[in-house]
Amino acid sequence: MSSTNGVDPRQFRDVLGNYPTGVAVVTAIAEDGRPVGMAVGSFTSVSLDPPLVAFLPDRSSTSFPRIRTAASFCVNVLAADQEALCRGFAVRGGDKFAGVSWASTKSGAPRLDGVAAWIDCDFESITEAGDHYIVLGRVRELHAPGDRPPLVFFRGGYGHFTAFEREGSLKLR
Ligand SMILES: Cc1cc2nc3c(=O)[nH]c(=O)nc-3n(C[C@H](O)[C@H](O)[C@H](O)COP(=O)(O)O)c2cc1C
Repeated sequence: MSSTNGVDPRQFRDVLGNYPTGVAVVTAIAEDGRPVGMAVGSFTSVSLDPPLVAFLPDRSSTSFPRIRTAASFCVNVLAADQEALCRGFAVRGGDKFAGVSWASTKSGAPRLDGVAAWIDCDFESITEAGDHYIVLGRVRELHAPGDRPPLVFFRGGYGHFTAFEREGSLKLR
């Protein structure tokens, strides 16, 4: 049996691509004092007590080894009009922060302007999981302006969320 357990990688990507995700940019100030960031679809909430969230960086990422040198990181949940920003943080190399406006959270991590939500975290744990890591973050501070719908990623394409027209459906304030 091959290391892929007989599962075809193309089929794995295609089938899992049917699960829609948001897109987040994980940012930090690396040990060298420069901002670093990468786009992830693998962000999720994990626990309320204690407040934990997670994301899964690829072990081949060149940004994550720099992110993990930081004391804290910020998860920036992208808004529907931030597809270009997402693409900028999904490339390898270059100065991903050129032309990007941001402010510091209390912990010092970069909080990007115009995002749907941001969650500032301390590193709780980093666990190896196949060709990825599972990074658990302990939430220190978080905020959502409440008026920005999220960017959605589905089957390799970008879109936005529309609620069904029915009583009790989500309303953006
Ligand atoms: C919508 C979307 C979701 C992504 N999700 C992840 C992810 O969960 N984990 C990951 O390691 N890379 C993910 N990537 C790819 C990384 O953004 C990209 O490989 C990385 O930033 C490459 O640069 P680096 O070497 O600087 O890390 C995603 C890219 C896109 C466009």
